[in-house]
Amino acid sequence: MDATTPIPANPTVLVFDSGLGGLTVLREIAALRRDLKLVYAADDEVFPYGRLADDALIARVSSVMDDLIARYKPALAVIACNTASTLTLPVLRAKHTIPFVGTVPAIKPACALSKTKRISVLATPGTVKRDYTRALIAEFAGDCQVDLIGSQWLAPLAEAYLRGEEAADEQIAKEIAPAFRDDGAKTDTIVLACTHYPLLLDRLKQLAPWPVTWVDPAPAIARRVASLLTTPGLPLMEPVRVHFTSGKAPGPALAKSLKSFGIDVADQAV
Ligand code: DGL
Repeated sequence: MDATTPIPANPTVLVFDSGLGGLTVLREIAALRRDLKLVYAADDEVFPYGRLADDALIARVSSVMDDLIARYKPALAVIACNTASTLTLPVLRAKHTIPFVGTVPAIKPACALSKTKRISVLATPGTVKRDYTRALIAEFAGDCQVDLIGSQWLAPLAEAYLRGEEAADEQIAKEIAPAFRDDGAKTDTIVLACTHYPLLLDRLKQLAPWPVTWVDPAPAIARRVASLLTTPGLPLMEPVRVHFTSGKAPGPALAKSLKSFGIDVADQAV
């Protein structure tokens, strides 16, 4: 499909992440548009992206997306990963003619919501060190103080949680603790700048040292996708297809978690 090809009725939308975090975006898209053929792709062979060097990440995402686009022929692709979006979108847009919707830290809405004018951006170490993230702060934080908090383990803990493995309260609490600051102005808003983190939202709320507003950009991403795919067609009853780059079949606990996101792995090759 190229820029001149009209978008078909019931277009295919590819939702891509390093792992399971993009499911938090997929569920919002599915709730908003029941006419789409959804494909969820996870690069579980290489997860987590947060620890990769910039060059390695660009090369990996570029080659995986080449394969996925050739295989599924989506009308639009969502890079449901902050770590990848903040680095690879220009490369992907230069190579392919389909629209790409990215996921980048929701700094502007978080600053607008904050009353204390102090927010934290909780993200992977990769997203925290990006020029892109710093440019968003310079452009949109205005009078708001922004603490950038890179967590090495929160995304792997979220994966473990969905796979039915141990994700202990103490470990989660330790990862989020640096996002809570109170030296003059007190943090009252935290941006979930990794799509894995909303998978743990209930536990983040329970383990927070004090209540804050958690900002999940997934509903806004879904609205952006819907706006690019014009008129909704008739609702489809088609199941969401899933693709794991490792080729490994999900175990029973993960299969159950995937089912809660509308993905039934029982009758499809991964
Ligand atoms: N879900 C990805 C993101 O939004 C990150 C997880 C990883 O490190 O691969 O940043």
